[in-house]
Amino acid sequence: MVKDLVTEGKPLIELAGVNKYYPLGKNAQLHVLKELNLTINQGEFVMIMGKSGSGKTTLLNIIGMLDQLTTGEYFFNEKPVAGLSENEKSELRNANLGFIFQQFFLIDSLNVSQNVSLPMVYKGHKNSSYRREQAQKYLELVGIPEKEKQKTTELSGGQQQRVAIARALVNDPLMIMADEPTGALDSETGIAIMDILTSLNDHGKTIVMVTHDEDMTRYASRVVHLKDGEIIQEIHGKRGEVKS
Ligand SMILES: Nc1ncnc2c1ncn2[C@@H]1O[C@H](COP(=O)(O)OP(=O)(O)OP(=O)(O)O)[C@@H](O)[C@H]1O
Ligand SMILES: [Mg+2]
Repeated sequence: MVKDLVTEGKPLIELAGVNKYYPLGKNAQLHVLKELNLTINQGEFVMIMGKSGSGKTTLLNIIGMLDQLTTGEYFFNEKPVAGLSENEKSELRNANLGFIFQQFFLIDSLNVSQNVSLPMVYKGHKNSSYRREQAQKYLELVGIPEKEKQKTTELSGGQQQRVAIARALVNDPLMIMADEPTGALDSETGIAIMDILTSLNDHGKTIVMVTHDEDMTRYASRVVHLKDGEIIQEIHGKRGEVKS
């Protein structure tokens, strides 16, 4: 039995008895997540650790409503996710979740400011000068205000990830979801990116991050270890207790 380390505070994510199967050919299926229970409260910095293939990305994609669980329950901000239409899910996602990926996923044909603005466009903000102002505010926060007009292809990897973080933040989401955000960066640049994420968490932003790098756990308030689709251990991260 894994010790329950969930801290006080409003639950943002509640997964109960979650299983995920991927179809494998005609009659076979791959059991990727197994009877998984996980609660993430507001203000936590939860790190999901585990070896390649243990189900980390699958779990993050389910939390981010990019993929569906097969059986089990999922409550987001205390509301059941089952039964929401794809449209409702994408609205919920766009308003409440900010995504950061290993490979940044910026759009080369748009400049930096336009990339950061995209979630506002999806949310329906029509005023382009408002969008530009907001984009600039978040580019300042991640330390690259001067890159506003630059092509994304002219940026270093670390700068591209800063753009992706600004983009993830621009709608002021309830939670940041990051899948190996430092995986494509050298260690020094990775530390700079982790410093940004830690500072966001210090200011109350909830973060769930996937990594296979044990060194990263020093940034977490809680570490969830996955093995073959099961949570085998939950421990407090080196940053200790969670802020409310
Ligand atoms: N769309 C899919 N269809 C079928 N199998 C899949 C699919 N996505 C992932 N898998 C399988 O599910 C298992 C878990 O994959 P997942 O991507 O969640 O692992 P991971 O822990 O993120 O690994 P990594 O550290 O390499 O990113 C793997 O065996 C993978 O091959
Ligand atoms: Mg993965």
